[in-house]
Formats: sequence, C-alpha cells, structure tokens
Amino acid sequence: MLTRSRKNPDVGELGLIDALPMVGITLHPETRMSRTHAIASDGAIRTQSLCKRYGETVALADLDLDVKQGEVYGYLGPNGAGKTTTIRLLLGLHRASSGYCELFGIDAWRDPVAAHKRVAYVAGEPFLWPALTSAETFEFLARLRGGVDEVYRDVLIERFHLDVDKRVRALSKGNRQKVQLIAAFASRAELLILDEPTAGLDPLMEVAFRQTVTEAKERGQTIFLSSHILSEVEALCDRVGILRGGRLVDEGTLAELRHLSAQTIEVTFDGPAPSLDGIEGVHVASAGANALRIEVSGSVGPVIAVLADHPVLALTSREPSLEEIFLHHYDASDGRVGG
Ligand SMILES: Nc1ncnc2c1ncn2[C@@H]1O[C@H](COP(=O)(O)OP(=O)(O)OP(=O)(O)O)[C@@H](O)[C@H]1O
Ligand SMILES: [Mg+2]
Repeated sequence: MLTRSRKNPDVGELGLIDALPMVGITLHPETRMSRTHAIASDGAIRTQSLCKRYGETVALADLDLDVKQGEVYGYLGPNGAGKTTTIRLLLGLHRASSGYCELFGIDAWRDPVAAHKRVAYVAGEPFLWPALTSAETFEFLARLRGGVDEVYRDVLIERFHLDVDKRVRALSKGNRQKVQLIAAFASRAELLILDEPTAGLDPLMEVAFRQTVTEAKERGQTIFLSSHILSEVEALCDRVGILRGGRLVDEGTLAELRHLSAQTIEVTFDGPAPSLDGIEGVHVASAGANALRIEVSGSVGPVIAVLADHPVLALTSREPSLEEIFLHHYDASDGRVGG
C-alpha cells in the first residue's frame, strides 16, 4: 500500500515507493481522491506553474512543461537545479507546493494507479532488493507489473552484458543501473522517465543505451531524460529544456537553441583586420596578427556586409555546441530562485 511518510505528509515513503513506479505499481491511498483535471491535455507530460518548496528551499518555481507523445525530451541542469524534484512531482512521489502536473492527463498525486500504468521510471538513486539476483528482480518486477516483453528483456540483458545470476548487493553501481534500465525498457511503457540513466555506465554501455532509446522512440514511446551528459542529449533528444535554480531558463529544439545563442565566426584577413565597433550583438576578439574571432548573437548580415569590403583570406563559422549553450546559462553565479 502506498503510504505517505509519517514525518512528512508531502512525501511518499522513500525507497520501495520510489522504486515502484519503475514497474508501474502504485497503490491508491484513500486520501488521494480523484478530481477533475486542471489541464486538458493530449500530451505525455504537462505541468502548469508547478512549484515545490522544501522548507525554505525553493526547489522548483513556476514550471510549465509540455512534452508531446512520441517525443524524446532532454532535461538539463546542474546539481541541485530541480530535475529530480520535477520527476518526483510528475510521478506523484512528492506533493507539489502549488501548480499542477499530469501524465497523459492524469494527476499522479491524485491518481497514481492510473498514471503509473503508463509509465516506467529509472530513479537517479536506485532502489533495488539487495538479496535478489537480477533474474529474480526482473521476474518479481514483471509479476508486479502484470507482464513485460520478455523477448526484448533478453535482448537487453545480452546487449548490456548483465550477469543476471548475481545478487543485486554484489553488483557494481553501473551494473545495478543496468538492472533498472532493462526493467524499464522491457516494460514497453508508453512513457519512460529516466533520471540520469547513464550515471555509472561505461562508454560501451552508453552506446547500448542510445540504441535502446532509439528503438523506444521508433516504437512511439515518449522519453523524458534528465542528464548531465550533453553529448547524450544532443544525440538523442528532439527537444531540450534547461533548468537553472529551479526555473526553466531555455527550451527548444537544438536548432532553436542554437539560433538564439551566439555563432562564432573566425576570419583571417590579407592585411590588418578591420574594426567592427558599433555593430549590435557582436563581440570581437583578436585571434592572431590579422585574424578576428567574432561572436554574433542574432543576424550575421551586418558583419558580413563589413567583411565584404576587406580582403578575407579565410573564414569559418560554427554554431554553438550544446555545451556552449549550457555553459552560457550556467556561469559560476548559478543562483537559486530564492526561498
Ligand atoms: N527531500 C528534500 N528535502 C529538502 N530539500 C530537498 C529535497 N529534495 C531536494 N531538495 C532540494 O531541492 C533542490 C533541487 O534538488 P534536486 O534533487 O531536484 O536537484 P537535481 O537537479 O536533481 O540535482 P542533481 O543533478 O544533483 O541530481 C536542491 O536544493 C535540494 O537540496
Ligand atoms: Mg537529481
């Protein structure tokens, strides 16, 4: 039975309860009565002005998310940004301080059984049963869920090179992570919520993970992926949200995020470099005797117009990487949203 913590009525029992959504199991406390949904949604995830306070700490403020079915959504943010908090609220593991969130139009705090039937979850801090082997864990989780794709589970066990006969307590961190991943993907849930799923995986397993996400996407599953690994997000995600100090500070496709960020142009001249003073949105630095590194936010037209009047020997232009976009949002002064 899903119960709230006696110490804190805003939080479900940790441990077992955090693990159960992984297999789509939650039992309904009588206190969580169904109610009319605040948001009509055909999306997989929708939040509206979602806020979470832990005492004086504002972990999440005014979050509006809208993740469509079939989308792979990358959720980026530094340590303490509020990624796990968001996921706990989405799953109904913790109660929102204000605002609203829903999965497939269902408020998971109010109606966890209905919401979790359609979701598999990989927790950032895995809860597994140490005395069971991986094989026993899979069997137990499959029974709790009422069936999984066993053929695909075997494919994944092979792909992730997991020794299923070892007890979970004897598994390394990366191998425990594989148990969670395999259980989640084998469930074939419509929505996979993955909290830093590749933490602890080696590069070969990271490749296996990417293949598995791609397969899930091809099947039309929706994936919400919180991550610090920018190359992973860049390779897999249709859209990216960047969270900072509990607030969503940027969101869009990679192309959109790049468009809004600075492009870098490097130019070498056959002679002294001209002045680009006075052009709006342009930051210029010397890149050698007759060369400039020009960062342009917005249109490059005015820069090109000036360059056209000078003897250019070489010109390269590149879009910002996700890392540069990310770092742009996270300088050393990463602040919290207050409290
Ligand atoms: N149960 C809790 N009680 C008190 N404060 C909490 C609790 N859970 C999270 N917080 C606080 O909320 C903020 C957001 O934490 P959260 O775990 O969501 O960050 P995160 O983005 O997942 O970070 P990380 O990348 O380190 O996993 C932090 O300041 C954290 O200390
Ligand atoms: Mg986290």
